[in-house]
Amino acid sequence: MTQAENDYREHVFLGHLRHRHNRSQDRLWSEHQAMQLSFLQRRGLRASSTVLDLGCGPMRLGSVLIPELSHGWYYGQDLNAETLTYGEEVLRQAGIPSNGRYTLFASDQFNLSAVDRPIEIAFSNSLFSHLNLNSILTCLLRVRQVLAPGGVYYSTFFVAQPDRPWLDPQPRDKWGQGFCTHPHQDPYHYPPTVLQAMAAQAGFRMDLMRDFGHPTQTMARFRLRRRWW
Ligand SMILES: C[S@@+](CC[C@H](N)C(=O)[O-])C[C@H]1O[C@@H](n2cnc3c(N)ncnc32)[C@H](O)[C@@H]1O
Repeated sequence: MTQAENDYREHVFLGHLRHRHNRSQDRLWSEHQAMQLSFLQRRGLRASSTVLDLGCGPMRLGSVLIPELSHGWYYGQDLNAETLTYGEEVLRQAGIPSNGRYTLFASDQFNLSAVDRPIEIAFSNSLFSHLNLNSILTCLLRVRQVLAPGGVYYSTFFVAQPDRPWLDPQPRDKWGQGFCTHPHQDPYHYPPTVLQAMAAQAGFRMDLMRDFGHPTQTMARFRLRRRWW
């Protein structure tokens, strides 16, 4: 039976927090929000940065990042339009007006035609964990088309545990809650060498950033490959 690679076309990420105004008291919201913003700040985020957040969800990052971009721009892309409607609600609650320095857009196949400025920092938290390899390659090829010279893409994924067979489900533990990652279904795990091969196919070189701080995922950095001729 053919299945979608994940259920996010119907499933609104963190939908259970949609009508809570004290969302920041939820650990899943506040810790992941602070982790993402602080990583970008350590990696050179500036007030003038142009940032593309792929699989942006309901503005967990956007609601604290957009106010930092007083001269820049935030683009948030997601598969699910309803998730972005929820994200707009979160932005209003954070005091960010609808004519703020941001663009949210829903798209499939990583269509990035809404991006109308070169992107200095592309970013995704917990997107590749829900994508098969064909979608990851599509994403990388599309990001490459909108990156500014010297631009960089950071994206998290589940590293396949080297001491376990890749073919088997691999147990994970997030704050005491157990789940498994899989070779063939969401959530997916990948050996870093496989993502490095995808990166090379799309014209990037990839390395790992050990300082992101995610409890279960690892941050990969994609930079454009140098040309020597
Ligand atoms: C685990 S959530 C993370 C959301 C956000 N990055 C955050 O950390 O708050 C994964 C998000 O990726 C989106 N997504 C899944 N597949 C996608 C695809 N093919 N293209 C774009 N977004 C996708 C989902 O709708 C969901 O909002």
